[in-house]
Amino acid sequence: MEKKLQKLEELNRIAEQGGGEKRVAAQHKKGKLTARERIELLVDEGTFHEIGKFVRHRETAFGLDQEHYLGDGVVTGYGKVNGRLTYVFSQDFTVFGGSLSESHAEKICKIMDLAMKNGAPVIGLNDSGGARIQEGVKSLGGYADIFYRNTKASGVVPQISAIMGPCAGGAVYSPAITDFIMMVENTSYMFVTGPNVVKTVTHEEVTAEELGGASTHSTKSGVTHFSCANEVVCINNIRQLLSYIPQNCEDTAPVYPYEGQGSEVREGLMNIVPDNPNQPYDMRDIIKETVDEDSFFEVHKDYAENIVVGFARIGGRSIGIVGNQPAVLAGVLDIKASKKAARFVRFCDAFNVPLLVFEDVPGFLPGTDQEWNGIISEGAKLLYAFCEATVPRVTVITRKAYGGAYDVMNSKHIGADMNFAWPSAEIAVMGAKGASEIIFRKEIQAAEDSDAKLQEKVDEYTETFANPYRAAYRGFIDEVIRPEQTRERLISAFEMLENKVDQMPKKKHSNLPL
Ligand code: HXC
Repeated sequence: MEKKLQKLEELNRIAEQGGGEKRVAAQHKKGKLTARERIELLVDEGTFHEIGKFVRHRETAFGLDQEHYLGDGVVTGYGKVNGRLTYVFSQDFTVFGGSLSESHAEKICKIMDLAMKNGAPVIGLNDSGGARIQEGVKSLGGYADIFYRNTKASGVVPQISAIMGPCAGGAVYSPAITDFIMMVENTSYMFVTGPNVVKTVTHEEVTAEELGGASTHSTKSGVTHFSCANEVVCINNIRQLLSYIPQNCEDTAPVYPYEGQGSEVREGLMNIVPDNPNQPYDMRDIIKETVDEDSFFEVHKDYAENIVVGFARIGGRSIGIVGNQPAVLAGVLDIKASKKAARFVRFCDAFNVPLLVFEDVPGFLPGTDQEWNGIISEGAKLLYAFCEATVPRVTVITRKAYGGAYDVMNSKHIGADMNFAWPSAEIAVMGAKGASEIIFRKEIQAAEDSDAKLQEKVDEYTETFANPYRAAYRGFIDEVIRPEQTRERLISAFEMLENKVDQMPKKKHSNLPL
């Protein structure tokens, strides 16, 4: 027995050294952690159990029969994050550059299958040179096996991808299908074709970082939801994100112990919206003042900043927040904002996270750029996402709710449960000046002083429509509230809606406008 145990220890030691000291040192020199170090940071101490530690590739071509590393370039297993079961795979760049062989893919698929059967999230820590070149089509097949599982798992268990090194070619499509992507600044990149191919085909000179680094994907493409200063920040973000979401689509997010903080009245909310309706303010100030202290966790922060999305807690309950952002482009809805918010709304709905909308929106962005790039179908995504959502849904209109955007932003008509408005709300088909110029055109043209007439009509229109009361008279607004009452009303509304049951008609699947 003693000898047999020694062999086991020896194999464990060999597996744990990955590609060997030199390659580990090179990994550290790049400012990157090893696959195992990352897992240690991610899971609660002492909870990780590895699966398939001794798996080896089966390739014999190109001398690979002489070159084996136990584990074959990926560490897989399960552990606990904040005390809850989580499955993890972590690619080991020190072994064949973390490239994906048939066996490597099988290991990932095995934990994905376990995650599906046991209803728990899958976290992928990606750091890979892509398909194992020596394995050819077997490797491509391995990728496809993963994509297929990613898709089946979508909406069933949460899937989070961290990109902590290269992620290129078709390999990008696994993270792309998952729910959230995090990238590490300066050490990770994602692209379908790298700088060399780009140069050959389009003659563009671009670095890997410019083409597909964290900054590019968090600001320009929106592919990544989080740009993280380093790997520790990235892993902490994953842990925090998991704290707001349930284990699977049948579960609800954990409720954190919440001791009322005395009065729920928030005086700070009285002074955020400026008197002048054309002056901007930061919707985040309203969000932070309303939700539980320090609980707002913004998602997709640097992309389409005219809309704010993120998770928070209110009275200890997890919620997803969508807020127009008057501080950027007056909070107008455009293609990027619609897509960003639609994706977030659909995640929350798939995983039973109630939705809170803060609304201050002048409408959809006009222009050829928007029209030619499909604001019609792109904007429809957000409308569709809200219409489809069956989770508890609450809206607070802080100021403008104009035109189609009024309908889209979680209006009562498309299934919202409780709609509040502040006295500063303006709910109408369009702004006072534009509206007056259309409906009073003849009168204004006929007037001796047309400017004065226009102003008179603008004042009349404003007096009639720039308030929440017409909507409240019709019951489209459930209650007009003083801003400082907002938190108390929201705690109560979400508590009241806790057991909401609502269903979409039976169908194979919906047909979201794409
Ligand atoms: C096998 C690979 C590999 C790969 C890297 N290595 N990529 N082995 N298959 N795809 C090995 C290297 O031989 C080297 O081995 C070690 O990993 C580290 O690689 P380096 O090149 O020394 O590292 P670095 O300078 O940091 O460059 C990393 C890299 C580069 C940019 C990822 O290795 C690279 O360009 N690799 C090829 C990328 C690629 O074209 N992959 C296929 C993409 S297509 P030693 O023994 O020296 O340590 C694809 C299709 C997916 O992935 C399709 C899905 C549908």
